[in-house]
Amino acid sequence: MAQQTTRSSDHFQLVISHCKEYGFVFGSSDIYDGLSAVYDYGPNGVLLKNALRNYWWKDMVQRHDNIVGLDAAIFMHPKTWKASGHVDAFNDPLIDNKDSKKRYRADVLVEEYIAKIEGKIQKDVDKAKKRFGDAFDEAQFRATNGNTLRRAKEIEDVTQRLKDALEQEDLGHFTALINDLGLSCPVSGSKNWTEVRRFNLMFHTQLGNISGEESKLYLRPETAQGIFVNFLNTINSTRQKIPFGIAQTGKAFRNEIVARQFIFRMREFEQMEMQFFVPPGSSPEHYAFWKEERLKWHHRLGLGEDNYRFHDHIKTAHYADAALDIEFRFPFGFKELEGIHSRTDFDLKQHEALSGKKLQVFDPVSNSHFTPNVIETSIGLDRLFLAVMCASLKEEILDSGQPRRVLSLPPALAPNHLAILPLVKKDGLPEIAKKIFQEAQLDVMCQYDDKDSIGKRYRRQDALGSPYCLTIDHDSLQDNQVTLRERDSMQQERVPIAEALDRVQKTTSLRSLYQ
Ligand code: GAP
Repeated sequence: MAQQTTRSSDHFQLVISHCKEYGFVFGSSDIYDGLSAVYDYGPNGVLLKNALRNYWWKDMVQRHDNIVGLDAAIFMHPKTWKASGHVDAFNDPLIDNKDSKKRYRADVLVEEYIAKIEGKIQKDVDKAKKRFGDAFDEAQFRATNGNTLRRAKEIEDVTQRLKDALEQEDLGHFTALINDLGLSCPVSGSKNWTEVRRFNLMFHTQLGNISGEESKLYLRPETAQGIFVNFLNTINSTRQKIPFGIAQTGKAFRNEIVARQFIFRMREFEQMEMQFFVPPGSSPEHYAFWKEERLKWHHRLGLGEDNYRFHDHIKTAHYADAALDIEFRFPFGFKELEGIHSRTDFDLKQHEALSGKKLQVFDPVSNSHFTPNVIETSIGLDRLFLAVMCASLKEEILDSGQPRRVLSLPPALAPNHLAILPLVKKDGLPEIAKKIFQEAQLDVMCQYDDKDSIGKRYRRQDALGSPYCLTIDHDSLQDNQVTLRERDSMQQERVPIAEALDRVQKTTSLRSLYQ
């Protein structure tokens, strides 16, 4: 039995270096020392990313007959972003430290302060749990322990002030909050701050050779608007009726000021969004449905249900009347992975006003037109990739005392499903191995590898996350059987070739996630 080494604070660094070493993620334009917060996906990364996108797309579009797909352009008419509110309201509150010259998001600084207090409460709870064992009642402890109550009250007060500050047009409230909490710069340690200012996150460029505001194009900061402006086209060209959804995956761009944590916050990233159009008044019911439906989708990945939690927004975006995040336990704490938003009829009404086109549907029962409301599910593909990598990468100590690094990816998503390994590079073994390889390639992603010892090749496939290795040895020449090795258990079984391929195909199909 292998023992898993405890997850250390170095785990995140291990994930980053593993991504580079095994061809998952590279810094963009690496040979020029990279471009901040922009990344490229390597030969294995692109396969994993495609598999994750495919899992989302099939779940949304193939498994729901009331959701259709779309692939809208990145460039859109400039009025789109005026209508959506992004020109006027898509900005972050920023503050600079005058000594380190570092810039921070003011709301993130305050949220980190709150998280620190939460951490202290949790530490006390864990300590008490240890002390009292089975007799420990956590709810009672939280309701009565003096220190915990004082800290909970502080969290409540700071959260309320943060909410007020976010809602204020006057950013002075924000500056005051940072100063009152005595927050210091993580780099310089000083409390020498500027005022809080707002900064728009959209990148822009110019259309053709025309200059001026009219030709100012934005790189889309979300894919959602491509869906809203195609609402009429879609409903007119399909047989869909309200309620129905439109799903889309594609690149989005944000000039993030605080871009860090590898592919968690990037300037160019990919979103997978679905807008579900519903009759007015029914949003709460559909919001509740999509909240649970999306969580189930995450759980099917098998990364551990206690790694997810819901987080209700304390302040909703300008277009929403309710919003929550599905958070994932990254090595740097629980953070947003996906957003579920009740977007009201804001977007369709705004586009109707600016385009002059009626974006309504007819209700034969009431004999009148109405503007649908929208429930949105929005997940970042890169962030999902990071979540999967962080939860899957493990370092184990084998019974032999040897370390093993294994990427326990869900088999259906692995970049390579099967490695085909002739035991030696002679005696006719490569010939059979290549025949099996060509046969297996028709159904699953395969790699052929005949370099190094068999042990080294197994280790490499473990690190790549390949769920199976199929080894051809001298006996295979006689009995048509091969050794099938399973990645996580490392168990080896001798099976007929056809049975081995059949097993690999079944356990690596998307269907396996739904069983
Ligand atoms: N259409 C709604 C929308 O864009 P959002 O919460 O701003 O909502 C949705 O973004 C998801 O997109 C997030 O939950 C996250 O997974 C991903 N995302 C947002 N900004 C990102 C960034 N800078 N880098 C990587 N992923 C990002």
